[in-house]
Amino acid sequence: MRHRGVRQWELFSAWCGLALLSLVSCDSRAEAAVQPMAFSHAVHAEQDTTCVDCHIGSEEGQYATIPTLNTCLLCHEEPQGEDVNEPLVREYAERDEPIPWVQVNRVVGHVYFSHAPHVVRGELDCKVCHGEMTTIDEPVTESQIDWMTMDACMDCHTKEKVSNDCLLCHK
Ligand code: HEC
Ligand code: HEC
Ligand code: HEC
Ligand code: HEC
Ligand code: HEC
Repeated sequence: MRHRGVRQWELFSAWCGLALLSLVSCDSRAEAAVQPMAFSHAVHAEQDTTCVDCHIGSEEGQYATIPTLNTCLLCHEEPQGEDVNEPLVREYAERDEPIPWVQVNRVVGHVYFSHAPHVVRGELDCKVCHGEMTTIDEPVTESQIDWMTMDACMDCHTKEKVSNDCLLCHK
């Protein structure tokens, strides 16, 4: 009998841990990030750029990556347009400081996600998961993947006939 009580207590503690974990992650998702500069995807989509030109990891690796200053300087070494934010790019470069973008889309720590298999082998367009970015005029400040609960990941996997083995997503 005593043994069984301990087991139940362990289960209860584990459940509390998970409940707490999801509360904490909900909290951090609700906060809007403050971005360092008014960057417009819409303006840059007009410059004949593709998503992968700037998010260079999205076809090769786990992380799509947020571009570094070197990518920006391919064009902004010289002034471009009239916007007041534009000279900031060179100011960061002169100070030799990275632009401190805040990453807003993030899965919780115990989940494994990788871009390359979804984008290349799965042939999924970025907008399936991130929405239409080419019309967005302001930096992203809130998660666009809040809808990606375990059920949502699994629903698409079922539809696409991809494995839903626990260890696929929880390594
Ligand atoms: C392919 C060339 C190109 C690249 C790469 C590029 N830009 Fe631009 N950017 C432009 C051009 C051209 C304009 C001016 C557009 C206009 O005014 O019509 C511009 C405008 C801007 C502006 C002001 C307009 C706005 O609201 O976006 C900012 C800020 C800016 N760029 C930041 C960046 C940053 C930061 C990077 C790197 C992450 C970057 N750009 C990469 C070509 C580029
Ligand atoms: C199947 C859904 C899915 C697709 C398709 C997808 N993404 Fe993502 N993206 C995510 C998820 C989930 C995250 C959070 C990943 C993490 O926490 O590591 C993310 C994060 C990001 C980030 C944040 C930084 C990083 O490196 O993780 C960027 C930038 C990004 N995606 C760009 C893209 C671009 C560009 C494409 C298309 C080439 C794309 N994504 C396609 C789901 C997707
Ligand atoms: C000229 C470079 C450039 C191009 C082209 C570009 N992006 Fe971005 N992207 C950025 C920068 C800089 C940020 C960080 C600032 C922001 O959130 O807007 C960013 C942020 C993002 C994020 C949010 C990352 C996070 O914080 O989680 C996503 C998603 C994303 N881009 C997707 C796309 C998609 C999809 C395309 C193509 C339609 C695209 N980007 C084209 C430069 C670019
Ligand atoms: C819109 C559909 C879609 C969504 C949403 C989606 N996936 Fe996938 N996923 C796929 C497809 C398609 C593949 C198979 C790609 C291939 O052909 O190998 C895949 C493969 C994978 C793989 C195995 C490839 C690898 O990385 O080794 C993992 C892990 C994975 N997905 C995790 C996730 C997670 C975690 C989420 C939710 C955050 C998610 N996926 C959401 C469609 C999706
Ligand atoms: C396709 C990817 C995927 C597969 C397969 C998957 N999970 Fe998850 N799992 C997730 C994601 C994403 C989350 C985080 C959900 C969130 O933050 O809303 C999660 C969260 C969890 C959590 C934390 C509690 C919660 O609901 O947030 C547990 C426990 C869990 N998964 C167990 C499992 C078990 C057991 C299996 C096998 C039956 C499994 N997962 C298969 C993607 C997956």
